[in-house]
Amino acid sequence: MTQENQTANIALSLRNLHKAFGEKVVHRGVSFDLREGEILGLFGGSGTGKSVILRSIIGLEHPDEGEIIFEGRNLIPLTERELFSVRTRISYVFQNGALFDSLTVEENLAYPLREHALMTESEIHERVDEMLEMIDMKGANHLLPSELSGGMQKRAGFARSVILQPKVVLFDEPTAGLDPVNTGRLLQNILSFKRRGMTGIFVTHDIPAAFEVCDRIAILNQGKIELVMSVDEMKKSNDALVKSFTTGAHIR
Ligand SMILES: Nc1ncnc2c1ncn2[C@@H]1O[C@H](COP(=O)(O)OP(=O)(O)O)[C@@H](O)[C@H]1O
Ligand SMILES: [Mg+2]
Repeated sequence: MTQENQTANIALSLRNLHKAFGEKVVHRGVSFDLREGEILGLFGGSGTGKSVILRSIIGLEHPDEGEIIFEGRNLIPLTERELFSVRTRISYVFQNGALFDSLTVEENLAYPLREHALMTESEIHERVDEMLEMIDMKGANHLLPSELSGGMQKRAGFARSVILQPKVVLFDEPTAGLDPVNTGRLLQNILSFKRRGMTGIFVTHDIPAAFEVCDRIAILNQGKIELVMSVDEMKKSNDALVKSFTTGAHIR
């Protein structure tokens, strides 16, 4: 494979990111590549800087050093205006779904389409219906977020995050607070988008969920990506750090 072909398969590349908040150093040279079409799990103890990595990718945090390469350019120096279009191609799934309370499900899902896409009202309505069907919420158009279960809120939040068909989706602990049934439903939704080519980073403490949807897992430890391995390799690994995650021992 030529060098060119190899880079063509990388959706996003983080190179040597450093970040400190005052005296507190969070990232000490974070580097990894996200391959096109994969879901990369990101494990790390609480407060190790997983959310800061995701927030840096969409420009909500500014690394002190390093590069985040997407579509051939470094995102770190981009202005808010330039980031506006990047955020249609890299989306962030917030922990609680982050729906607008006063808007119906349909208005919530239509919001990114109205902001970023040139679509007629009937096209918007059709696209919303199609998404609701994909997340098993057909007919929920006119409900308010307060009328939805926690699981439905998260699935609707996910649907809103992917409605513009972004190239990369960033998940920050998407299954936190969900019971096993709702976790299963959300994971099935994520997998059906993955089959259609979605690429993602999946930050989680939920090891079974990560094993179900991820291709590879990266472990963030003491400010760096300590290792990246496939889910199959991880299941067989005897590495002490890996085992501390797979056995749940790191969550104290
Ligand atoms: N805006 C901020 N200001 C100061 N400290 C922050 C800020 N955001 C995150 N931190 C600190 O950075 C560290 C990493 O945070 P975070 O990425 O949220 O961890 P996690 O791995 O649990 O997602 C934590 O110690 C947190 O307190
Ligand atoms: Mg976090």
